[in-house]
Amino acid sequence: MASILMSNIQHHKILILDFGSQYTQLIARRIREIGIYCELLPYDVKPHFIEKFNPSGIILSGGPDTVGDDGSARAPEVIFNLNVPILGICYGMQTMAVQLGGKAKSSKKAEFGFAKIRARNHSKLLNKISDEKNSKGHSLLDVWMSHGIEVTKLPEGFELIASTDNCPIAGFANNNKNYFGLQFHPEVTHTKQGVQILERFVTEICKCQKKWTTDNIIEDLLLNIKNQVGNKKVLLGLSGGVDSSVVAILLHRAIGKQLICVFVDNGLLRLNEGSEVMNTFSENLGVKVIRANAQQYFYEQLSNESDPEAKRKIIGKAFIKIFDQEAKKINGVNFLAQGTIYPDVIESAGAASGKAKVIKSHHNVGGLPDDLKFELVEPLKELFKDEVRIIGEKLGLPRKILHRHPFPGPGLGVRILGPIKEEFVQILREADNIFMEELNNQQLYDKVDQAFAVFLPVKSVGVTGDDRRYDYVIALRAVETIDFMTARWARLPYDFLDHVSNRIINEISRVSRVVYDVSGKPPATIEWE
Ligand code: XMP
Repeated sequence: MASILMSNIQHHKILILDFGSQYTQLIARRIREIGIYCELLPYDVKPHFIEKFNPSGIILSGGPDTVGDDGSARAPEVIFNLNVPILGICYGMQTMAVQLGGKAKSSKKAEFGFAKIRARNHSKLLNKISDEKNSKGHSLLDVWMSHGIEVTKLPEGFELIASTDNCPIAGFANNNKNYFGLQFHPEVTHTKQGVQILERFVTEICKCQKKWTTDNIIEDLLLNIKNQVGNKKVLLGLSGGVDSSVVAILLHRAIGKQLICVFVDNGLLRLNEGSEVMNTFSENLGVKVIRANAQQYFYEQLSNESDPEAKRKIIGKAFIKIFDQEAKKINGVNFLAQGTIYPDVIESAGAASGKAKVIKSHHNVGGLPDDLKFELVEPLKELFKDEVRIIGEKLGLPRKILHRHPFPGPGLGVRILGPIKEEFVQILREADNIFMEELNNQQLYDKVDQAFAVFLPVKSVGVTGDDRRYDYVIALRAVETIDFMTARWARLPYDFLDHVSNRIINEISRVSRVVYDVSGKPPATIEWE
């Protein structure tokens, strides 16, 4: 569970109770973008956590349950005794209705997609917020609906604040208690005035001050790091990915030379990646980085192994061994820094409760040996990825690092199918580099969420001039995704693919053929192994 810090910028804060909607994290990100701190907890969190959190307002998210069904999720009763404003969104509105004496049942017509609502009764929440007026001067709003159940009877003390033709009670309010419900989703960008509505709730109704700003967050993080670490030494495994890079720059700002980074070159990095990390951090930013050149050790450990999971385990174990060796050479380290971010914390909380959506979490290189007993420094553990990027940018990290596609911990090790050979790594590095270069040249890199090349250890026949070739195959993969749980293969232009393929076959002598992966996830995964 996220730590509940009471520093000034988190003094006014919103609690979001997660009923398992795919949009819940989006609510939290919107509230933070508005400038107010919030945390997300599973809906069935123990009441004392809610009391201890002491929120200025509570938002109940949407969720997949059918309100009223046996065992369907309910908001903890304690929230109705705290005397704070509550906003229920979609399922959150329905359960609030039922728990407070109203009714909800299946809609005659389920609504998924755009809807136009009419605001009613000049509520505190929606008053003067509109996209357009109808001929009678009523405010209309374009919103995003996604529900098959709706509120059919208002609880006592509540009045109607929004309706559509299909959904007569699309919003309600109890103005005395400051309880509100919206059947539509203000957190998604399709609801044009969504941010205004959320801002109205958190600033005017919950009376939160906007203190969650980039400058304040950085100042607060630096102060917390200094307080935690004092004059002791901190060790950080720097991978060159977004999170560990931002941790490095933050710690460097806070404690300078007390930070020692270890960068393990496992021989499975992309072309020039090792020297780029060293240049950026060591040469340009003055961060103390030890480079462990362990390529041969990794290749030896991996020799002849072809099973993907076994390769992952070997790479993870080898990383720990090398990191451990380097750590033991440095005297007097008390802390280990990690790039845990808020979604990782939410995942573990969700996994603990079992009900809220659990996202795959197999990816962190974990498990340092017990004799490396360090206290953890996790400065990013309350931040979303976009906040981490903004902070990194403000602290001067290059865009190339901050906006890079995700790269798996085992690196090219899971992009060379079957046993890994140094020769295969060289071929893949060059092919991947051509693909990345061209994506960047054609401004396509930021249009896809992850792209890479895969080495296929099969040989295929080709012709070059009069010569027959019998060489390896490279697969290109590019996907569009929001959460990496599902993904659609990216519709990259044919001419672009043609150009990349020609370059790879012409410039890399051991490649005879290039293929493009047109598999979605599911059923395929994003990586090939
Ligand atoms: P899959 O292949 O499971 O990938 O669809 C989803 C996302 O996770 C990344 N991935 C990994 N990241 N260690 C990591 O750090 C791993 O072992 C690993 N396997 C997959 C993958 O690149 C994609 O972004």
